[in-house]
Amino acid sequence: MTFPPRLLGRAVLRCDRVASTNDLLHTLAARGAGEGTVVVAREQTAGRGRLGRMWASPRGGLWFSVLLRPSDPADARLGLMVAVGVAEALRTVSGADVRIKWPNDLVLAGRKVGGILVEVRPPWAIVGIGVNVNVDPLDLPIEVRERATSLAAVSGRECDLADVLAGVLDGVDEVYAAYGSGTVEDVLERWRDLNITLGRFVEVRAGDRVVEGTALDIDGDGALLVAGLDGQAARVVGGDVTILAGGGRP
Ligand code: BTN
Repeated sequence: MTFPPRLLGRAVLRCDRVASTNDLLHTLAARGAGEGTVVVAREQTAGRGRLGRMWASPRGGLWFSVLLRPSDPADARLGLMVAVGVAEALRTVSGADVRIKWPNDLVLAGRKVGGILVEVRPPWAIVGIGVNVNVDPLDLPIEVRERATSLAAVSGRECDLADVLAGVLDGVDEVYAAYGSGTVEDVLERWRDLNITLGRFVEVRAGDRVVEGTALDIDGDGALLVAGLDGQAARVVGGDVTILAGGGRP
């Protein structure tokens, strides 16, 4: 047991197969489930990702959701902070060089190894976390296979899913405590250390908006600041980044 006892995972519902752990946890939240409640499933039949995408969730992955009841559930910084907690935990548990692509994609060896979906329904937010831990990339749909990997595929060894879950809950618990105590900027600095976006030439799509330019930094709200080709600085909240070129930070 961790000490002090963590908030996240005080109640854990383990399922074999569900449509989406996010959906089940929204239902529990509406019935009054407490902050920190976790739903974890071996398999999801209708897992979903950001921007309305499907999220393939075969056995071998870690698919779970956490219920948060922060003072501002819509705070965009939450997703970035959770990414820091997850990435740091995965690095510790697996030894793999897991990085973050803005805003909160988890990337390993240039491919996506996991993702975070924050769904806000005030007064709560559900944070859904998916990590391809022991998934064989060949078990993923062909349209994502080329861009996806797993911890096991890169490290050559399988990780215990219970150990990974415990480590990730500890990691997210720590950043959420930092959020509550107002030390957000320290965590965003850790995001900068782990990111693969800043310093790169990128295309950012946010709804109908497409911005091309050099990713400069994130601001205090977690928005991405991009220096456009026209010399104008753009600020983007939410969206999807494609890295087009550039060295930048690793
Ligand atoms: C992304 O698009 O990068 C976010 C993926 C989030 C997937 C997780 S798996 C557990 C939870 N339940 C879902 O249906 N989605 C999230």
